[in-house]
Amino acid sequence: MPEKNCKLSMNDIVSLCKRRGFIFQSADIYGGLQGLYDYGPLGVELKNNLRDAWWKSMVYERDDVEGLDSSLIGHPLIFKHSGHEDTFSDPMVDCRDCKCRMRGDHLLDGKCDNCGSKNLTEPRQFNLMFKANFGPLEDDASFVYLRPETAQGIFINFKNVLDSTSRKLPFGIAQTGKSFRNEVTPRNFIFRVREFEQMELEFFVEPGTDEEWHEKWVQYRLEWWKEQGLAADKLKLFHQPHEELAHYAKATVDILYEFPHGFEELEGVANRTDFDLGSHSKNQDELNIFAKVSANHDSNAKLVVQNLEGKNFFVPYVIEPSAGLDRGVLAVLSDGFNREILENGSERIVLKLKPHLAPFKAAVVPLAKNNERIVEKSKEIAKKLSRLRLGRVKYEDIGNVGKAYRRHDEVGTPLCITVDFDTFEGAEESVTLRERDSMEQKRIPIREVEKFFQEFYAAGRVGNSIW
Ligand code: GAP
Repeated sequence: MPEKNCKLSMNDIVSLCKRRGFIFQSADIYGGLQGLYDYGPLGVELKNNLRDAWWKSMVYERDDVEGLDSSLIGHPLIFKHSGHEDTFSDPMVDCRDCKCRMRGDHLLDGKCDNCGSKNLTEPRQFNLMFKANFGPLEDDASFVYLRPETAQGIFINFKNVLDSTSRKLPFGIAQTGKSFRNEVTPRNFIFRVREFEQMELEFFVEPGTDEEWHEKWVQYRLEWWKEQGLAADKLKLFHQPHEELAHYAKATVDILYEFPHGFEELEGVANRTDFDLGSHSKNQDELNIFAKVSANHDSNAKLVVQNLEGKNFFVPYVIEPSAGLDRGVLAVLSDGFNREILENGSERIVLKLKPHLAPFKAAVVPLAKNNERIVEKSKEIAKKLSRLRLGRVKYEDIGNVGKAYRRHDEVGTPLCITVDFDTFEGAEESVTLRERDSMEQKRIPIREVEKFFQEFYAAGRVGNSIW
């Protein structure tokens, strides 16, 4: 058995990501832009797989959720009425000595992050929303915001979805997509960035049932993260104290993960009450709503539902599990990263990703890259497995099987399939299968490879042993 030898640092992850093509600094040929990252060939697969897993569990595996994809550019009135214009800000301070700018609420002992000086300016509130010019005119009236959360796109489409699907409470609307925040101090690789992706569900319930639904969603989401392979002892819940709650929330439970830089928020599950639907609704006397809406509202919407008797209208409450996809990618990379010392004293880095998240589902490795028969057979197997549409299958012809195994261990490929000289010996053609975590090898007839591969991925989701 290999020994595990690993005190993980963020540098281990950053360097693996660059070396193997998961994540790159954006615009690095021009010196880069802080807080922006690009996902490379393997990163895009991992990110897509994690997003797909979320979508399947939130939309396909439930019968009470609809999907949505709303625009990234937001009408300014959305963010006026949502409260973001007034409240979506962080305190910012400047160091008078080194001129560094940082968040006032993240200081250690009131000292500058960069030089340790206490010679800092008073905190000033800095709004995190990006403004952009909309259309050909560049005047004060023609601006828009890049959305700082996907949630508002769901609230403003509440009636559209309700009317077009005839849903009754409780039901949810799920959305994934980019959000933008002009963070004062982006840091810790893809943990805090200025452009990121969120996976959000707004789950609409009757007032009075909100607290029960809130608890259910916290547990459901916690279990989901474990299904993605995150170790239970690296996950914990944090009940936000009242003074830390966002302007829209009555209660929020954060799901924290132990990232290489410490326990931090991976997902927040908030009880947003009727704040948002109420805020986007035209004021009506009969609506006894939590949000303070004005009689001269900019919108004519009534984002309400009728009670069961079909008489009174009310604004639903909403429970919101809101996860960061980039933080999810960082969490599964950190959890999967293992540095092992093998019996012969060599080191192996292996990324123990759950099979459904792995960027490559299998690598097909020809033992000799100049042997036509072996090469042909390897390509044929790779093509057949690709056509099963379970994800990318790599024909890996670096010509050295040991190196190919190490390369695929590092990027989390669960299976390597090797075609060698023995393939063509015996009564029927066969290949060697090698499993990533145990490094165990097994010989199977080629005619069984497709079935094995399909069964492996069906079972992999729940973490069964493969042999
Ligand atoms: N709609 C609610 C909302 O946006 P939030 O706690 O501000 O709540 C939700 O954000 C999730 O989005 C966080 O738990 C985190 O995973 C992710 N997130 C927020 N800001 C981020 C940033 N600057 N970079 C990366 N992910 C971020």
